[in-house]
Amino acid sequence: GIFMTESEILKLVELAQKARLYSYSPYSGFAVGAALLAESGKIYTGANCENASFGATICAERAALASAISAGERCFTAIAVAAGDKPVTPCGICRQTLAEFGDMAVICATAEGNEYKLFFLSSLLPEAFTSYK
Ligand code: THU
Repeated sequence: GIFMTESEILKLVELAQKARLYSYSPYSGFAVGAALLAESGKIYTGANCENASFGATICAERAALASAISAGERCFTAIAVAAGDKPVTPCGICRQTLAEFGDMAVICATAEGNEYKLFFLSSLLPEAFTSYK
């Protein structure tokens, strides 16, 4: 069967676009929002949070993930990311961080509008390192 309908995908994109409005990005000027759908059906959002010490920046995807994990979630269906005029894919650190919790759909969307690209995390980060045990 279909795992997410087009309208469910676009709803998640819309929530990522709304979350993007809370971005704190005075250094890059690049605002990013994310919306993470847990298997519980709940959705957790995040925005990028920059810092004067640039390396301390937290991406929107990891902000959403930390929020979900902090609410007790461990299993996820999809994450939508919204930024820019062309869809952006999550950075390497975010791919690794998300892969800790298994595969999921990654919906890469623009800051406004309904354009998106659909990937699976396992295709964006093949052969991921997940455990040494
Ligand atoms: N950024 C994200 O939040 N997610 C991405 O997928 C790409 C990069 C942020 C980090 C930084 O605040 C800004 O975008 C520019 O790199």
